[in-house]
Amino acid sequence: MLDQLEAQSPDALLALIKMYAADERADKIDLGVGVYRTDDGVTPVFRSIKQAEQRLLDTQDSKSYLGPEGDTGFVSGLMPYIFGSDDPDMGGRIGGMQTPGGTGAVRLAVSLAKQAGARRVHMGSPSWPNHVQILGDVGIEPVLFDHANPDGSANIDALIAAIESAEPTDVVLLHACCHNPTGVDYTQEEWERIAAALAANGVLPIIDSAYHGLGEGMEEDVAGMRTALAAVPEALIAYSCDKNFGMYRDRVGAFYVMAQDGGQLDAIMSNANALARANWSMPPDHGGAAIRLILSDPALVQDWQDELTDMRARLRWVRETLAAADNRVPGLDLAPLSRQNGLFAILKLDKDQIAALRADHGIYMAGSGRINAAGLTSGNIEKFIGALADVTSA
Ligand code: LMR
Repeated sequence: MLDQLEAQSPDALLALIKMYAADERADKIDLGVGVYRTDDGVTPVFRSIKQAEQRLLDTQDSKSYLGPEGDTGFVSGLMPYIFGSDDPDMGGRIGGMQTPGGTGAVRLAVSLAKQAGARRVHMGSPSWPNHVQILGDVGIEPVLFDHANPDGSANIDALIAAIESAEPTDVVLLHACCHNPTGVDYTQEEWERIAAALAANGVLPIIDSAYHGLGEGMEEDVAGMRTALAAVPEALIAYSCDKNFGMYRDRVGAFYVMAQDGGQLDAIMSNANALARANWSMPPDHGGAAIRLILSDPALVQDWQDELTDMRARLRWVRETLAAADNRVPGLDLAPLSRQNGLFAILKLDKDQIAALRADHGIYMAGSGRINAAGLTSGNIEKFIGALADVTSA
């Protein structure tokens, strides 16, 4: 039977990690997979996580099962940051559970939508490549529209048209902030249009929040999402702690449902629990438990926020530096990068230029032209700008 399986090409983004590791050049630059790096080029464990992990080591007295919903203190501890401290469960209408990373949360959201009758998901293109893979695996058809305009702004008209054309069994997938892979986010005015269109057409949104705190600020990054949630009767939210707690390999995420009526939550969450049980049974505990400890200690919360503030400032510096080099790189429009958010930006490079950056300069980026801005530092950004000028003028 197994000889029927055809070989699959490896995930392009993950394959890049191996190619980069095999390159022996000392001045190579990794702009591939989306991990934050400091100006020294490292991805450290957050100080607050280190402290919380120590406390966990000292105090945890059992590793017995918790259940498909995972660490409920972690799940509820995040809610004021996501949904607002005034009314973190929107009048009892929000329920949630822990998931293995944001990917697990997206998978659960899509599976639950399918179980509830969804047939298609409208989504902007390009998107995180795994979105389409998850839809394919769950068996929901993606319907694509252009996410961004050539000038580096969001193509809001395309999204509104998609919402307006949606059928009752359609869902729309939105990125909360720091759009992956373009960095092109909706403005607050655009979120207001999105919210009104969703409400008028009764389309269920799935909102993927994987970079909360890495854009403009903790409150700013979720302001648009909250505007949408305030307008619609129900929504599904996938949340990742990979980046904003630096927990990448520990796989820490959460899935939330905003129900029309709090009375529906038990039935909805029982479906989510059953899907989780069939998929992964229970999420890994360690990361969620460490984050719960941070969120219950104001000093650790402050330290976590301070570290995030520094990360945002560094990403902003990379973006401003690249935008300021616009006139040094003929043929590439770098100016919009300063108006975009988060780790990613798409550079309009062709296949040959991306290959030349890799072969001639040891610079690794996704085949889409996506760069992870956090891979650039005060020590390598000049080299990168020079290499861009080289390949675009060749
Ligand atoms: C990325 O897009 O680089 C990250 O979200 C990591 C991943 O899992 O693809």
